Amino acid sequence: MTKSGAFIVFEGGEGAGKSTQERLLAEHLAAAGLPVLRTREPGGTPAAERIRAILLDPASAGLDIRAEALLFAAARGDHVARVVRPALQVGTTVICDRYLDSSVAYQGYGRQMDPEQVRQLSLWATFDLLPDLTIILDVEPRVGLARVSDPDRLEAEPLEYHERVRHGFLTIAAADPARYLVIDGSKAPDEIAVQVFAGVDALLASR
Ligand code: TYD
Repeated sequence: MTKSGAFIVFEGGEGAGKSTQERLLAEHLAAAGLPVLRTREPGGTPAAERIRAILLDPASAGLDIRAEALLFAAARGDHVARVVRPALQVGTTVICDRYLDSSVAYQGYGRQMDPEQVRQLSLWATFDLLPDLTIILDVEPRVGLARVSDPDRLEAEPLEYHERVRHGFLTIAAADPARYLVIDGSKAPDEIAVQVFAGVDALLASR
């Protein structure tokens, strides 16, 4: 039987530098001969990309917060069923830009809904698929938002909202330190990459 691939997720606020680190990690793992898939949420399947367009469109301003949570969970369910789980099953390492903790942080903490209910919604949608490791790139919202040009609907939320999101991510990580790696996203990209590689290499060696 093929050993299932590792599921590695990058999380963080806006402008935290996730894409650079995802690319560097994918290169690092590919150089070690591992099959790797990079994907993202919301998105990753044709239907989920369409849901993403609705969610990020400034024209969706005022979208009901429960409807928003359901749409993120719906996109996630399709993505996991059709892309993530099949890849893991054939032994591919999956690197995903955002996953269920984005819902807990943005919809739960950010929108001030019950974080546990939001988490349960995504667990239901994904048949309980959890990452093996979640890497949180932590930056002060003021710094991260300054890196964003042409803000989408969520990026356009007020600073207090983004402060709650950051607090959410840090609270989630503190509750389960073995499955989370929190890295200061204000450091230089190559310094961050050293910490990312160390965390991921340790995970892969332990499996
Ligand atoms: P992202 O792809 O990181 O946006 P960008 O490429 O513009 O940085 O994420 C899209 C937005 O969706 C981001 O503001 C975070 C938000 N989001 C949620 O609110 N809940 C979720 O469950 C996910 C996955 C993302």
